[in-house]
Amino acid sequence: MPNTPGAAPATLPPFFTYQNGRLMAEGLALDALARQHGTPLFVYSKAAILAALGAYQRGLAGRAHQICYAMKANSTLAILQTLVRAGCGLDIVSGGELERALAAGVEPDKIIFSGVGKTRSEMHRALDVGIGCFNVESRAELDVLDEVAQSMNLRAPVSVRVNPNVDAKTHPYISTGLKGNKFGIAHEDVVATYRHAGACAGLRVVGIDCHIGSQITEAEPYLDAMDRILDLVETIEAAGIPIAHIDFGGGLGIDYNGDSPPEADALWQRLLQKLDARGYGDRKIFVEPGRSLVGNAGVCVTEVLYLKPGEQKNFLIVDAAMNDLPRPAMYQAFHQIVPLSPRENAPTTWDVVGPVCESGDWLGRDRALAVQAGDFLAVLSAGAYCMSMASNYNTRGRAAEILVDGETATVIRARESATDQLRFESLLP
Ligand code: LLP
Repeated sequence: MPNTPGAAPATLPPFFTYQNGRLMAEGLALDALARQHGTPLFVYSKAAILAALGAYQRGLAGRAHQICYAMKANSTLAILQTLVRAGCGLDIVSGGELERALAAGVEPDKIIFSGVGKTRSEMHRALDVGIGCFNVESRAELDVLDEVAQSMNLRAPVSVRVNPNVDAKTHPYISTGLKGNKFGIAHEDVVATYRHAGACAGLRVVGIDCHIGSQITEAEPYLDAMDRILDLVETIEAAGIPIAHIDFGGGLGIDYNGDSPPEADALWQRLLQKLDARGYGDRKIFVEPGRSLVGNAGVCVTEVLYLKPGEQKNFLIVDAAMNDLPRPAMYQAFHQIVPLSPRENAPTTWDVVGPVCESGDWLGRDRALAVQAGDFLAVLSAGAYCMSMASNYNTRGRAAEILVDGETATVIRARESATDQLRFESLLP
């Protein structure tokens, strides 16, 4: 993940523009939304989400396919609903996500359940509602799923998550397809695992899957993974176990700071060529994109509280913090930070930091900005892995969220109050 500090002029994500000196989301000025709803405030563009989805839909048009949005990227109900209404299924990783998915109105058979640690009760509930597929990550999990399904007189639809041992060339914390990762079943154990699954009375093999990492900005790791998966499909089918669908996971990156990942349609053009060339063009294709559907569709608006110039560093203290935007603190991730109403004055170099009592609470380092207290800033590309990873650290309420559609703004999540946070706690008698 690039993290070049400095004053690179921000290229705005699609559907965000400056008009008459004000940053807009589609047809609405962000400063007006910030004044009306307070800050920190997440604002998403519905058109940006649908445009990002459109690239996958174009890329996979004419093929049997299912796009399952990896809802961990942003699981706010109205965001899910937007994608579900546009035809998406959902990739879930917990019982909580399952309930959210159902509340958003997804058809249960369009749900796939990923994750290394599914519990018996999560399996039970998922079988009960009739999800489309369990992406199983270990032999032990396969056996537990078999047992749970048999106890319900059902056969669980399964796919084995393969660890293809390819380097996604991304941040180590978000790389998942290498041997040293906890994810998936090692390439060399996959065929035996399928043989075992094929013999379990509570399981029904439907597919194979992989997911090699996140914020991938090149096509090659995908092409490599596809080759390795197709080698396995060949061997598994030769053993008499048909593989109806192939799930290539998510992971496609977005532009945070001049990154240039392939567009989803261009990537899929290349992948489909390979799939056809190898004779597997008839299989149903699954993908599990998260970040690339929502990441560039959201910003976090924050107010400048204080300017604190210093001998070594100038600090710009804003009202958003690591609890709202954990990616810089967790991965040294870079997010562009731009003023909602740029000033003409010469910029100063600032570290943009939040109010949380940790030195790790920074949003951007060495940013050239001309600002005064009371100004609003937008942290860009904040649609993925920000709100869904937000916490209440320092007993800070989680931010409100707005979905913009043209000139209409809808509050899709109210700001969390202190009372909300105290609700589940009790004093001693
Ligand atoms: N499928 C599986 C099995 C996954 O584990 C993930 C993400 C996805 C799909 C979606 O990947 P995406 O298309 O969003 O790259 N919090 C980190 C990213 C963690 C990704 C975890 N798995 C970040 O903020 O960069």
